[in-house]
Amino acid sequence: MPAQAQNTLPQLGKNSTAEVIAAMTLEEKANLVVGNGFYIPGANFPGMNSAQLNEAQKKVPGASGVTRGVPRLGIPPIVVTDGPAGVHVFNTGKGRVYYATAWPVGTLLASSWDTALVRRVGVAFGSEAKEYGVDIILGPGLNIHRNPLGGRNFEYYSEDPLITGNIAAALVNGIQSNGVGTSIKHFAANNQETDRNSVNTVVSERALREIYLKGFEIAVKQAQPWTVMTSYNLINGVYTSERPDLVTTILKNEWGFKGFVMTDWFGGKDPVAQMKAGNNLLMPGTADQVKKIVDAVKGGQLDEKALDRNVEGILNIVLQSGTFKADKYSDQPDLTKDAQIAREAADESMVLLKNNNNTLPIAANSHIALFGINAFNLIAGGTGSGDVNRLYTVSLAEGLFHAGLMEDGALYTAYNEYIAQENAKHPKKGFFEEFMNPTPPIQEYPIAPDMITRQAAIADIAIISIGRNSGEGTDRKVSEFYLGETEKQLIANVAAAFHAKNKKVIVVLNIAGVTDVTQWEDNADAVLLAWQPGLEGGNAIADILSGKVNPSGKLATTFPVHYDDVPSAKNFPGKEFPEKATTGMLGMKAIPAEVTYEEGIYVGYRYYNTFGVKPAYPFGYGLSYTTFGYSDLKLSSPTFTNTISASITVTNTGKVAGKEVVQLYLTAPVHKLDKPAEELRAFAKTSLLKPGESQTLTFTLTPADLASYNTTASAWIADAGKYTVKIGASSDDIDIKQTATFNLAKDIVAEKDEKTLTPQTPFTELKPVKK
Ligand code: BGC
Repeated sequence: MPAQAQNTLPQLGKNSTAEVIAAMTLEEKANLVVGNGFYIPGANFPGMNSAQLNEAQKKVPGASGVTRGVPRLGIPPIVVTDGPAGVHVFNTGKGRVYYATAWPVGTLLASSWDTALVRRVGVAFGSEAKEYGVDIILGPGLNIHRNPLGGRNFEYYSEDPLITGNIAAALVNGIQSNGVGTSIKHFAANNQETDRNSVNTVVSERALREIYLKGFEIAVKQAQPWTVMTSYNLINGVYTSERPDLVTTILKNEWGFKGFVMTDWFGGKDPVAQMKAGNNLLMPGTADQVKKIVDAVKGGQLDEKALDRNVEGILNIVLQSGTFKADKYSDQPDLTKDAQIAREAADESMVLLKNNNNTLPIAANSHIALFGINAFNLIAGGTGSGDVNRLYTVSLAEGLFHAGLMEDGALYTAYNEYIAQENAKHPKKGFFEEFMNPTPPIQEYPIAPDMITRQAAIADIAIISIGRNSGEGTDRKVSEFYLGETEKQLIANVAAAFHAKNKKVIVVLNIAGVTDVTQWEDNADAVLLAWQPGLEGGNAIADILSGKVNPSGKLATTFPVHYDDVPSAKNFPGKEFPEKATTGMLGMKAIPAEVTYEEGIYVGYRYYNTFGVKPAYPFGYGLSYTTFGYSDLKLSSPTFTNTISASITVTNTGKVAGKEVVQLYLTAPVHKLDKPAEELRAFAKTSLLKPGESQTLTFTLTPADLASYNTTASAWIADAGKYTVKIGASSDDIDIKQTATFNLAKDIVAEKDEKTLTPQTPFTELKPVKK
């Protein structure tokens, strides 16, 4: 580089990025595209870039990573922090404590079906990030719920890409409205934790396009996240971060993504291939990666222009960052205000699954018998990088107490003593130690039957809370899908004792992922699904149980009757090849593995509805304390030209105010391609309707909404023929309230794509038998 005096050097922001890049040395470029390390108390990462506790990391204790700055060119380091459920900050242990709001987890937020609400959560979430000086939040996570056992499902939204993409876009738009970036993750087809760094996902182009990429596509097009995080897994034989077709052709060229792409932490293997693919930033960064990139440019294996493009992508975002703009931050977000938004978000999202004979809401001043360890120990959110350092968690017991519902002291004491005793068996571990070796959950307390009988005599109603947690690094086991014997016994014993006295039993599910309901729910008069509701969870559950809030959440993921009914059950988590084990991330053993998505596009309700497998609770389902009538479905035309609109009137026909999630499913004609029985193509939530009040909703469909991905043509094609619009309250036929049909005269090619992501060897995908 020609010697230039410091004051004549180009400066980021003052000069064009092209001039700044031209002034960078090869080493500076390589250092910019490789992160500058990260710090986790108790962890030692061999070979990682040195500046583990540099200035940027000190700025945000708990940051997951930083980039390296180039001070002589005015390029500052920027700070990235997890994660989907809240700003991931640690306590410093030096007098200054850092807490953040634990928002309801992704699966619960999606159950709101309310993009305006989720945007509000995003605005508040982003403001906390801003007040802590964070540049980019590593979230939201938007992988598909392919299988109920997925260990990180709680971080993700749904089995359906339309709801996934729309909820993600709302959160991203909210967070980014603060001038804080996001990283939508994990791109893509990362639907399990077993062998997460080595698993090869074998999946068809159609299933990728329609199911696994679609949510990302919607989020990119609607919200332009600042960054996208590639996943750990391989797709059809190649690491996602090393696939130019995924990272450049699809994401940047076809979808018009304008930000930069970063790897997941230590993801992928070959830094040069990652650079060529257009994966701009390798996180958290090792000295070895820098060296390999420099050597490859010098040796002619990597065109410096490709490196420059990656640098440019990062610089464009650095320019927007709070750090670059020297935004002031207080380290004191308004956690009190945000807690109220978290409570409201949980209120609006929980799903009432069952409510026989108006068991709920509970009458004021009822005397409650509260059972189950979870009632006293709420699970606010999952573990791993999606965990949040919150100031408090409101348990269900506390929430009911705040709501003025009386609980019996004897149960409170018995459960709390048991929990304390069990906790004492497991000394508290640091974040990293816990991550590597999670403390097993406390087993359900085998409460004495005579205690239950006594409660049935004195209390008006029983509430039992059942909990499940999960997190990064491991999937759940089939045994965790089902309730354990002690749990089932608890429900059965409580039901026997209370029903004998004509008293009702309510079950609250505080779970990270879908669990069985069929083996025990006959014993329950009402079932409320709270998922993992964040730090205000107990208050929010009490809001619904007491009737302060009328439930309006709906399932964004199906509850099957049996685990074996799940279409991916046979292919989850795939097969391992232990004989080919190598040393992987952090010196851990990496076992090559492979999972084949034989179910193709038939994921969730697309499978259950097409193959006639009845679920326990269908996608889109949820009860309210009121009822709704649907009328006047009108299409703008009997034939489709460029668009078509459907309008419908929804009326509150019950006795209390409520909101209804209205869903539009489309059945497309089947010619060459097989198609799901119906697919969600639009949805909306009404405003709070008073008894007797109506609202008319209008949905507009475009050719893309009619189209399926035709692999032979590499195109989204809407087939000519008859389409049926079905509008209703869930994906189950019995909840479809109104239908109408329209005709498409000629095929429309909605979008032509490049041929990409082709499986290396053909495999057989599930297809419905033609009638
Ligand atoms: C997770 C990411 C996370 C990153 C940084 C990885 O282990 O998969 O979701 O953002 O760590 O903490």
